[in-house]
Amino acid sequence: MVSKTVDSRLEIKHLLPENTLKQDEESELIAGLIQKEKTIPCHYFYDEIGSQLFEQICELPEYYPTRIEASILEKYAPQIAQLTEICELIELGSGSSTKTRIILNSYQNLGYPLHYLPIDVSDSMLFESAKSLLLDYPNLTIDALASTYEVALEKLTTIPQLLSRRMIIFLGSTLGNFNQLQCDRLIKEIKESLTPGDYFLLGIDLQKPRDILNAAYNDGQGITAKFNLNILSHLNWRFQGNFDLNNFEHLAFYNEKENQIEMYLKCKKAHSVRLEKLDLAVNFSEGETIHTEISRKFNLEKMSAYLTKMGLKTVQTFTDTQQYFGLILSQIN
Ligand code: AVI
Repeated sequence: MVSKTVDSRLEIKHLLPENTLKQDEESELIAGLIQKEKTIPCHYFYDEIGSQLFEQICELPEYYPTRIEASILEKYAPQIAQLTEICELIELGSGSSTKTRIILNSYQNLGYPLHYLPIDVSDSMLFESAKSLLLDYPNLTIDALASTYEVALEKLTTIPQLLSRRMIIFLGSTLGNFNQLQCDRLIKEIKESLTPGDYFLLGIDLQKPRDILNAAYNDGQGITAKFNLNILSHLNWRFQGNFDLNNFEHLAFYNEKENQIEMYLKCKKAHSVRLEKLDLAVNFSEGETIHTEISRKFNLEKMSAYLTKMGLKTVQTFTDTQQYFGLILSQIN
């Protein structure tokens, strides 16, 4: 059988009206920098260099989540495919879709048809990874959504469903970078975008001894520090800023009370910074911090109970022998 060309199996929908994201992002950034305890929204990590640095973090010996989640998927994806049967895969924050391949393989091995809907704000990333997936999976069709999660999830109900069921996948413990309010909102949007019988597969980093967590965010090669500091370079080129990276240092620690890694940039000396394009001047004092990220660490049973409460009943949980990372497969009631 001659397989269809790559182009005929790919559609990219651009769901964000020009500039919407830009305006919202800018006001959020300004609000964060003028408040007493300064913050920079963590999505600013991911410019081109930041995304490359994150890929490097995923390879670090201290940063276990990526490796362990992949190993859980390798072991249990065939079981997940059997449990869910034929379904369309919708991935939030698909990025390079590396782990998606493990899941696609298990559906393919059962002879199921493959339809994939990746959601990512970066259309170049969507295009590159979609192209490479289509070359490797001749029976795959892709409907990529270049969008924020919120807009894409709302749109999902209007996109014709090609297969009998849907499964949204959200891997890498990205949910850990959301505070509780943001998490509640996203889970509600996920639930509302699906119909009874559909599935949700969530990957979460689990609570574990402090030393292992602190090491994962303070690696010996200093890549996480570079990743954290790069957020300032990103602001410099995007908003014509004059942040001097030498004036800041990386700070990351596990807050045991909150069960979360907190990441900051600590200012080494008093100085001011200007972001020309935002017409914004910011004063920094010595020792002051900018909060750049939280990375929450979860309890598998509690998360499963929370999802059930939100209308996503647990079908099965999967973890590794050390219980470092967990996957929850849940289904809409
Ligand atoms: C993307 N996210 C799940 C990573 C995490 O572990 O919270 C981001 C990261 N920050 C520092 N290292 C990795």
